[in-house]
Amino acid sequence: MKKMKKLNLLGFFLLGCFIATAQDSAIKSSVRNVETKVDSVLALMTIEEKVGQLVQYNGSWDLTGPASEMNNKQKEENLKAGKVGAMLNVLSVEATREAQKLVMENSRLKIPLMFGYDVIHGYTTIFPVPLAETASWDLEAMERTAQIAALESAANGVNWTFSPMIDVSRDARWGRIMEGSGEDPYLTSKVAVAKVKGYQSDDLSNPQSIAATAKHFAGYGFGEAGRDYNTVHIGENELHNTILPPFEAAAKAGVATFMNAFNDLDGIPATGHKTLQRDILKKDWDWDGFVVSDWGSIPEMIAHGFAKDKKEAAKIALNAGSDMDMEGGAYESSLVSLVEEREVSEDYIDDAVRRVLRVKFKLGLFDNPYLYSNAKLLEEISFEEHKNVARDVARKSIVLLKNEGELLPIKESVKKIAVIGPLADDNDTPIGNWRAQGESNSAVSLLEGLQNNLSENIKITYAKGADLGIGERSFLMPLEINKTDTSGFEEAINTASEADLVIMALGEDAFQTGEGRSQVNIGLAGVQQELLEEIYEVNQNVVLVLINGRPLEITWASENIPAIVEAWQLGSESGNAIADVLLGDYNPSGKLPVSFPRAVGQEPLYYNQKSTGRPSNPIHVTYSGYTDEKNDALFPFGFGLSYTTFEYGDLTISDEELTPEKPIEVSFNLSNTGKREGKEIVQLYIRDFVASTTRPVKELKGFEAVTLAPGETKTVTFEINEPMLRFYGANKTWESESGEFEVFIGGNSRDLKKASFNLKKLGLKASAQELIWKEDFEGDSLNMENWSYETGDGCPDLCGWGNNERQIYSEDYVEVKDGKLVITADKVGDAYYSGKVNTKDKFEFQYGTVEVRAKLPDGHGLWPAIWMLGDNINEVGWPASGEIDIMEFVGRQPDTIHNALHTPASHGDTENIKTTPVKNATSGFHVFKMNWTEDAITFYIDGEKTYTFSPLEKNEETYPYHHPFYFLLNLAVGGNFGGPEVDDSIFPKQFLIDYVKVYK
Ligand code: NOJ
Repeated sequence: MKKMKKLNLLGFFLLGCFIATAQDSAIKSSVRNVETKVDSVLALMTIEEKVGQLVQYNGSWDLTGPASEMNNKQKEENLKAGKVGAMLNVLSVEATREAQKLVMENSRLKIPLMFGYDVIHGYTTIFPVPLAETASWDLEAMERTAQIAALESAANGVNWTFSPMIDVSRDARWGRIMEGSGEDPYLTSKVAVAKVKGYQSDDLSNPQSIAATAKHFAGYGFGEAGRDYNTVHIGENELHNTILPPFEAAAKAGVATFMNAFNDLDGIPATGHKTLQRDILKKDWDWDGFVVSDWGSIPEMIAHGFAKDKKEAAKIALNAGSDMDMEGGAYESSLVSLVEEREVSEDYIDDAVRRVLRVKFKLGLFDNPYLYSNAKLLEEISFEEHKNVARDVARKSIVLLKNEGELLPIKESVKKIAVIGPLADDNDTPIGNWRAQGESNSAVSLLEGLQNNLSENIKITYAKGADLGIGERSFLMPLEINKTDTSGFEEAINTASEADLVIMALGEDAFQTGEGRSQVNIGLAGVQQELLEEIYEVNQNVVLVLINGRPLEITWASENIPAIVEAWQLGSESGNAIADVLLGDYNPSGKLPVSFPRAVGQEPLYYNQKSTGRPSNPIHVTYSGYTDEKNDALFPFGFGLSYTTFEYGDLTISDEELTPEKPIEVSFNLSNTGKREGKEIVQLYIRDFVASTTRPVKELKGFEAVTLAPGETKTVTFEINEPMLRFYGANKTWESESGEFEVFIGGNSRDLKKASFNLKKLGLKASAQELIWKEDFEGDSLNMENWSYETGDGCPDLCGWGNNERQIYSEDYVEVKDGKLVITADKVGDAYYSGKVNTKDKFEFQYGTVEVRAKLPDGHGLWPAIWMLGDNINEVGWPASGEIDIMEFVGRQPDTIHNALHTPASHGDTENIKTTPVKNATSGFHVFKMNWTEDAITFYIDGEKTYTFSPLEKNEETYPYHHPFYFLLNLAVGGNFGGPEVDDSIFPKQFLIDYVKVYK
């Protein structure tokens, strides 16, 4: 983006020539565990130093928001004093090195800085804007471009991007719609995960990957009337079903940071929203990264009328879970005194600091603060290869909207092409508004792309016709549009009238979309529509190439112009990619991630609307529609043509009844009925007809890219399973509800084949099962009405019958904290200690469904377990006990969890013990469930069935489960069946249990 203030860090950071090395970091620790390291640093910190970690400064290089009041000299002093945790917009190896040196050479604790930047769709090599790239539906390609963006950023000292933006957005008036993945939560979630993987790789300390940010949390895409920063009125149902899923997906994918949002949400500014940040993000999702505020969004709560001054804003934000203050000046000025005055607890500060330190450790900055300021990396980059990737993803992102009379691809008979329009030879607009360090005017224009790729015997003539954006073009300043000057029309008309084919490039200037660029009109701005109509009058062979960042109102064009190509803002290689499609070197396969309206008055417009009580009435006006326009989109979500044609056969469904235990399959034949090879993005939608809250008329639930040769037919099959049918309903939890569903398959969200099926769950509806007991570990101590401790010295009495356990169980190792039961295993001297609790004589039950949400500790030789035991355990003894192991996680098998049943008849028989691989078993919370009836016991992990135990003949030998049981929760040490030894370096370790629920 344009350099607003050329006052770079090199200028004001006048430093000595000390060459820093890894040894600079005062905090070196030999222990391997990140948490232990974080704690050891935290223990050294003063309150001022802690607050410092929560402060982020702009580097005054690139302004992406209003300039702060603080002068650079003061910033420098604060950096030296260790009062700053991160910076943004400090670019280049030299500048980041200089800033890092200020901290490493002067501050007491030498805690390295993080350097953030808006690397939204590339750093130097610019890829399509996110909305465009999503149109490729190619997750691998999107991961790859994030990987390249990360590499180019890391090579320039940046180790943190404020991307991906995963705000579901359905309003084309909103200028930032270009920065997200469109209107659908499922597609946006998939892109979110691909982007996080691409930026961060599997290992954040890899110096070629960087930390990502899921933003803006939450609701920013729903600003009323499409106005940026505007109020958001969203109910809880919509929040959970539409806005939060991409964020949860990013959190689960391990995104390092979140950014909160400028808007308020049902009356509470997102920056001060405790339910969002503390309860949902940090507690329910158990996410351990940090939340950075948006630029100045903490003090902006004053303008919201939510805080009376900066100090109150700081208090609200920190208490609500905003960990770092971006350029707001509120935390640095107020947090220390707020702690002294007990308005903010130091525990909250510690939690925020821990989160920041954790990310810094994971980035490898404590081992080498200059890891990302490595000039060599830049030399090693192959920009040529990155360009090829940019061209490939750009052409995959193009959507063919109309192709009447097969005007495209350009025929051999075409000898003279007129290229016309304000964007035809524009090298700047294709790199978009959020262009990072993509040079101005660095894109290949459409005209250049054609010249580069057309054969010499085709003549190209060019006339601009008119200007679009005039005057200053920059990130912060308004753009003026040419609304009057048509002096170039005549030349353009003459050029067009002499050509066999006209290619017109119209749409939006780069600075018509992006932050602060909301518009009430979304047609072809300025004199473009007039130009289009006049050209069409002299030559009807027009291919309209749209270059834009938002859905446009193009109704006239769709009715008159024979061919329309949606080419968005495609980045550095734009012109070459468009030429590939126009010339037929690439058969277009892109599909719209957002609906194109017939008229702006339809906005917000999206395919996954609710039915309403009056969906249609062919006779009179009293239904939910317009009297002057149709309801549906001009070009619907998922729409995109190809140079070949595809035919969808009827759907075959494997079974009309689906149960949680038994998924079904839907299959159909897809045929390429045209003359070219082509790729079709096949889409799967589902509708839930009747539910405890109203549901959308359809929702995307799957997609697949299928490539077919001409004449080829393939059978395509999708699985439909119970988790796909879950939604946030009346019970305020994600669950499916029994009843009738419809499945739709097709090449867009409108033209679909369909079939029906029923979901049948135990007891008809999940809600029909009554919750009879719940322990959610609230408060600050264990509820002794429900639980007892088991204490004592290891085996034989308290161990798992000969499994080589070696802990001493003590109640000191059990606590209730932050809504969780925490069982800690530790080594003290030569002895191992841990905890065990049970509900014996306090809560026992027979038959029902048990659900336990827990987070497992990692490390060799630990054995967390959730069991149920009968009162008769001591009489029968193990293994004949009839013990039900809801979950055991044995350290000898990483990432596998076992459910097991013990019967006299079948101990050791593997049919009763299921070992289930669980990806990232120890990285977050998992839900373990067991349904126990007179006839069968079924186990689930995260909603997926692992197995059902149901012997044909039921007696005490085969099914000794006909009596009451109690719960037992413990964390054993050892018990490894000869697996890896207990690793003494891992202690202390914690087993967290969030809740136990029992339904009948
Ligand atoms: C404000 C924008 O809303 C946010 O997305 C961006 O990351 C910050 N400015 C920093 O430039």
